Amino acid sequence: MSPAQYTFGHTAGVLRSHRWRTIANSAQYMAHCLGPTSRVCDVGCGPGSITAEFAEKCAAGRVVGLDAAPAVIEQAAGEFRRHRNLEFVVADMLHLPFDDNTFDVVHCHQTLHHIGDQAAAVAEMRRVCADGGCVCVREADYDTAVWTPRNASLDLLKATLSTLVSANGGDPSAGAKLVDYAADAGFAAADISVSSSSWRFASDAERAWWGGLWAERVQTGPQADQMRASGMQEADISAMVDALRAWAADPAASFATTFGEVVCRVRNA
Ligand SMILES: C[S@@+](CC[C@H](N)C(=O)[O-])C[C@H]1O[C@@H](n2cnc3c(N)ncnc32)[C@H](O)[C@@H]1O
Repeated sequence: MSPAQYTFGHTAGVLRSHRWRTIANSAQYMAHCLGPTSRVCDVGCGPGSITAEFAEKCAAGRVVGLDAAPAVIEQAAGEFRRHRNLEFVVADMLHLPFDDNTFDVVHCHQTLHHIGDQAAAVAEMRRVCADGGCVCVREADYDTAVWTPRNASLDLLKATLSTLVSANGGDPSAGAKLVDYAADAGFAAADISVSSSSWRFASDAERAWWGGLWAERVQTGPQADQMRASGMQEADISAMVDALRAWAADPAASFATTFGEVVCRVRNA
């Protein structure tokens, strides 16, 4: 495990958020890198919903999901055992247990900002990627998160999340720095394609889901424990829960956040 701590843990509320993720809503920017025979490594795969879609798209290839948390890897391996070309391993993304040039695509979604040495992690992804392959990263920039309508408790939630991620050794602005990380990892500017995309939750069902899981996350689990340990008062937590419920019930409300994305072409020659 890396020295940085994963801020949110794998509580039921966190897993509901992660399991919603698909190639369509979270990895469209790199879908062109995937072919039927691609060898793919998904680092920091969590419960593996995106990883399993990689296995379907690369049915004649090989897909490995890797995460530092043994419990989430055990769950993913059980849930997706039907995919014969998919395996899950426990490892630290800063020390990938693979030879050089093992994969055609090395993918990372929403994990780089939780660790301490992002450029070293991208260099490690590059090491295990074969010549001509792609290293693909999509990360949030927490500054871009917008809860509408504006509310003081939701502003406090947003600020608190950045503080916790930083305190745990991560970088909540990582999504804005991906080109720098890729350059520091040795990629030439001409081999880095940059894009951005967003999530937006506004329908009744989306607000009920997103507001509900965040109301859980601020009350129980590692994130809630760290909020209390940092001195946050119960009244502030209750106000956040009330604000999240009011937000979810407001048909005019929405949440949006923007992600940075890079596809880096590996050239060893
Ligand atoms: C926000 S989740 C993203 C999961 C998945 N990529 C997705 O988007 O659904 C971050 C994941 O990174 C994992 N993680 C944190 N630090 C790690 C490290 N050093 N090496 C490997 N995985 C790590 C956590 O255990 C967690 O499952």
